[in-house]
Amino acid sequence: MTIADIQAKKKQGKKITLLTAYDYPSASFIDQAGIDIILVGDSLAMSVLGYESTLPVTMEEMLHHAKAARRAVKNALLVGDMPLEASNKSVTATVKNAARFIKEAGCDAIKLEGAGKMLETIKAVIKEGIPVMGHVGLTPQTADSFKVQGKDAQAAQRIIDDAISLEKAGVFSIILECMPDELAKIITGKLSIPTIGIGAGIWCDGQALVTNDMIGLFEKFTPKFVKKYANLSEEMLKAFKAYREEVENLKFPAAEHSFHMKKEEIERLK
Ligand code: KIV
Repeated sequence: MTIADIQAKKKQGKKITLLTAYDYPSASFIDQAGIDIILVGDSLAMSVLGYESTLPVTMEEMLHHAKAARRAVKNALLVGDMPLEASNKSVTATVKNAARFIKEAGCDAIKLEGAGKMLETIKAVIKEGIPVMGHVGLTPQTADSFKVQGKDAQAAQRIIDDAISLEKAGVFSIILECMPDELAKIITGKLSIPTIGIGAGIWCDGQALVTNDMIGLFEKFTPKFVKKYANLSEEMLKAFKAYREEVENLKFPAAEHSFHMKKEEIERLK
């Protein structure tokens, strides 16, 4: 998948799929499933590293996980999500960090949250030849509260303006997070680049979900917009309990899991 392929899908009226991945096995399975874009999201912080929010995850942690995903991904477009600490200092530092995702982790593009005062930074990253995915609506790195964005006309207009300014700045696609589907429909109609919605309804050019939410591996809370396609935490707990019980009751390892010596070798050993 190239950026041109992703953009062509909008023109062809074909839906774009995006899932997050943070490690080799999940990136490999997502890639094998034919998902278009794999995002090493800063949701890593909560989904995998156990932080209370996405804010504390570091650039080094993001790179470590992006590299693991890179080893697995053969077809999907791999996007590295810029953590807050990598994009809240100077424009120069942000450009440098964006380049690390490409050079060190082998990502195809990066994602940056926000518009407005982020535009200058986003333009500088794009000027360096690094493709950028934008992100408007609910932007967890700077949000005061995690609620649906753009519910009244004024707030909705601000998000439309942000999306248009990001397209003008040169982003190749935009995440629309947590907004009414009517608003996402207007934005999708106004932009020529693809919109990828997460909690933004059916009218976006594509859909995104956080993998650990949709496979039931994150139990702290589940946003309304998440559909659980599997319940892996239940499966894992079942497997771990069964293992403990079988070890304690001498049922594991069975003969087929064990190695054996020839009788004469045992005798010689004795
Ligand atoms: O970090 C992440 O997983 C994201 C998605 C919500 C798009 O930014």
